[in-house]
This record gives sequence, structure tokens and C-alpha cells, in this order.
Amino acid sequence: MLILGIESSCDETALALCGDSGTVASVISSQADLHALFGGVVPELASREHARLIGPLLDSLLSKAGLGPDPWDKIDRIAVTRGPGLLGCLLVGVAFAKALAVASDKPLIGVDHLQAHLLAADLEHNLPYPSLGVLISGGHTHLYRMDSPVDMAVLGRTIDDAAGEACDKFAKMAGLPYPGGALLDALGRRGRADKDLFPRPYTHNDNLDFSFSGLKTAGLSWIMNHPEAKFPAGGLPARDRLDMASPELCDAAASFLLAIAETLCIKARRAMSTFAPRSIVVAGGVAANSVVRSAFAALSTETGLPLYIPSPALCGDNAAMVARAGWHMAMAGRCHGLELSAIPRGHAIPQDWKPCPAA
Ligand code: KG4
Ligand code: ZN
Repeated sequence: MLILGIESSCDETALALCGDSGTVASVISSQADLHALFGGVVPELASREHARLIGPLLDSLLSKAGLGPDPWDKIDRIAVTRGPGLLGCLLVGVAFAKALAVASDKPLIGVDHLQAHLLAADLEHNLPYPSLGVLISGGHTHLYRMDSPVDMAVLGRTIDDAAGEACDKFAKMAGLPYPGGALLDALGRRGRADKDLFPRPYTHNDNLDFSFSGLKTAGLSWIMNHPEAKFPAGGLPARDRLDMASPELCDAAASFLLAIAETLCIKARRAMSTFAPRSIVVAGGVAANSVVRSAFAALSTETGLPLYIPSPALCGDNAAMVARAGWHMAMAGRCHGLELSAIPRGHAIPQDWKPCPAA
């Protein structure tokens, strides 16, 4: 079974092909440098970029995959991220996928972007189920009970900012460009964490939800009280002059990331007492973070549960994970009709799949 996966939920346009033994080919174009000019993703610009890039990217994917003169004979299903994400961006991918499905007479599959992130780990490993899924991205922080690749239930979620959002806002206030999470990681590696500098927010309760807005505010007030520690403005991209960062900022970055990582682990440990997971999966852009990876490695040792984190290149948005999620949906006999809707952030993804004949 060969699945074409399409991703356009935010600022990455990506396409990939996934077969029975994994990813066949993958292409991606990031708009991060464009949005950095505005300090964050501009939805209208992002949709236009997706519309401009998605066709040429499909051409380059098909030539990279080397499927021969008629690739559409070999592709069995068209899978596309239907949400959550920016609505205009999602609509570009969904409309493109519908057009391909009609033109090639292949079934369509709508994929949940957050579940696809978790299945990035399944691209590289055979996951033991049930698994505790920790999804940490720019827009979402969710804990999942993963019963199988197609059956996942949300156990907890952020009630305000996501972990990635908190990192990006702290980085922005510190003088770093958008998206600042990876730069904060690089600065933190140069510093020493003070575990008392920032709080472990919203942990003195008995629930599985997160709230990172208080931590974000604590980070912003630290920057306001230490204006001399801010990253200096300059002509060259920040990533090429990280050695100009003050030692105080490097220490604060390490401390901020430790607060995020420990908060995630506190709630993940608590979630493990609600069922009997056989593994832990950590995924999403923030799963690329070195402090988060070490904290979960320690949790894995402590609990004896194997830990699966995608390689850093597969933590951020990509289409290989969407194609993989589509592959699992197809194997479970699930697909969608042409009425497939795009679901913006904050709305539940409906379970409106229908039975699909075997390929
Ligand atoms: O999953 P993702 O690529 O897009 C969404 O679906 O949101 O996640 C993007 C988020 C951004 O907030 C970015 O700053 C953060 O992931 N991120 C990181 C790192 N790499 C990306 N945050 C901390 N450390 C990193 N190394
Ligand atoms: Zn994402």
C-alpha cells in the first residue's frame, strides 16, 4: 500500500510517500524565514505560499521517488492533514488532495495532525501499545492514551499557551527571531540551569492539564528585569552569531527549558497512573529539544518503560508522518469522502471516517 501524504497546517508545505516498509520519498519547504520578518506566522501569507509551492513540490516528490512513467498507478490513497491548524492553510492542502483524489480516482484520507506527530515515532520503531503519547508543538501540548496507531484518546491538554508557544515568546522577548525554540535550545546548551529560577506551573493540582502562560509571564518579567542580558541586534542571522549571547541569557534559557521539561514529566508521570502504558512516545517540534529529550530519557529509566522520540528532523512538521498516519488509517480500512472538512485549531477532529475497501 503506497500513500501520498500532504501537510500544510502551518508554515511548512510538505509531501511524502509512505509504503509498507516506511518512507519512500519526502519533500518539504519551510516558510520560517518569511514569517520571521513579522515575528510570527502571518496566516494569509502562509496560505498563499502553500498555494504557490504545493504543485511544484508534488512534481519534485514524484521525480525523487522514481515511480516510473505513471506514478498514479502505484499510489493507492491520498492522505492530507485536515486539522488542527490555520484554516486557510489547511484548506489549500485539503482542496489539493481532493483534486488529486478525483483526478486519480483514489480514496481520500483526512489525518489528525497531532496524531500524525505521534506516529512520526512509528516511522522508525515498532511501538508497543498502549503507549503514553506526549505531543508538544508550537500550538498544542497534549497527553494521549495511544491504544493503537488509529485509536488515541486525549488525557490532558494545555488550557492556554502551548510549550512551544511559551518558548517562542520567551525567545522573542530575549531578542531572538521567530521561531525561537531551537535557538533557545542552542543558548541553553551553553548555560547552566537554575532549577529555582522559574516555576513548574499548574502542577499543584491532581489533573493532567497544562498551563504555560504563567511560566511565559515569569520569563518575560525576567527579561524585563535583565535588559542588559538580551540578545544583541545585528545584521547577520542570530543562528550565525550565538556566541554573542550573554552568559546570563544562556543560563536563563537553560532554566526556562528545564522548567518546561520538568513540568511535562510531572504530568506524564501522573498520566501513567491512569492506565498501564507499555511505552512512552514524545513528539512534536519541542520534542527536538535537548533538555526535554534528557528529562524523558530519565523518566524512561525511572519507570522502566521504553521511550520513543522521533529523530529531530521528524519532530517538526513534515509529510512523512502524515503519510504514515494515512497508511495506518488505510490498513484499518478507514477513509473519507470528498466532503472532508478542514478543522481549525481549538475544534475537535470528528470521527467521520467511513469504511474503505482494501487496495
Ligand atoms: O510541531 P511543530 O513543528 O509545529 C506545530 O505543529 O506547531 O512545532 C513548532 C514548535 C515551535 O514553537 C518551535 O520553536 C519549537 O517547536 N521547537 C523547539 C525546538 N525545535 C522546534 N523548541 C525547543 N527546542 C527545540 N530544539
Ligand atoms: Zn505540528
